Amino acid sequence: MLTNPLIELNSNENSLGMANSAKKAVIDALDIGFRYPDDQRVALITKVAKINDVTESQISLGSGSSENIRTVVQMLQNKALREGRNFQVIVPHPTFAYAELYATSINVPVVKVALMPESYSFDLQNMQKVADDFDGISLFYLCNPNNPTATITDTDELKAWVGTAPDHHYFLLDEAYSEYVTDPSFESGIA
Ligand SMILES: Cc1ncc(COP(=O)(O)O)c(C=O)c1O
Repeated sequence: MLTNPLIELNSNENSLGMANSAKKAVIDALDIGFRYPDDQRVALITKVAKINDVTESQISLGSGSSENIRTVVQMLQNKALREGRNFQVIVPHPTFAYAELYATSINVPVVKVALMPESYSFDLQNMQKVADDFDGISLFYLCNPNNPTATITDTDELKAWVGTAPDHHYFLLDEAYSEYVTDPSFESGIA
């Protein structure tokens, strides 16, 4: 029985509630829940890699994708500290706030670049300019489709940008909502 009838589309929740198969899997797992789940972890990585047609070493499991967003910010902050360089995070605004919130909590500066008026698309040129004008490492957090605007970033523009970016510009593509996309022009960044 759902206690909250709201469909919170910006929360990446399954508003239909937990599937019976998922409930059963959770209950079945209780019997082995006293062990660290190393074998199950490896099995899950193998499955996720296969579904996404990547190698197992390209998969990082997190407790939710928030953990992976945090890891990327932390990893680049460590790299910058090691190399004595500056580091900044560049985000469109508005977008899913976790990269910004985590970066701010560890004193990494965050530059917010407003979405384009009317189309709500990312202002890629301005985002790029913020990085070009910065002396150090930049991480772009790009949520595609974007939460909360549901807008898609043009694949060709994105490819051209990533393809010509210098190696101190990093891209974090968050495709948490990609399964909902019906627009055939959307292409996952996995490739
Ligand atoms: C765009 C986006 N990315 C990541 C997350 C984090 O999801 P998780 O629950 O997997 O940490 C959310 C959650 O709302 C989200 O909207």
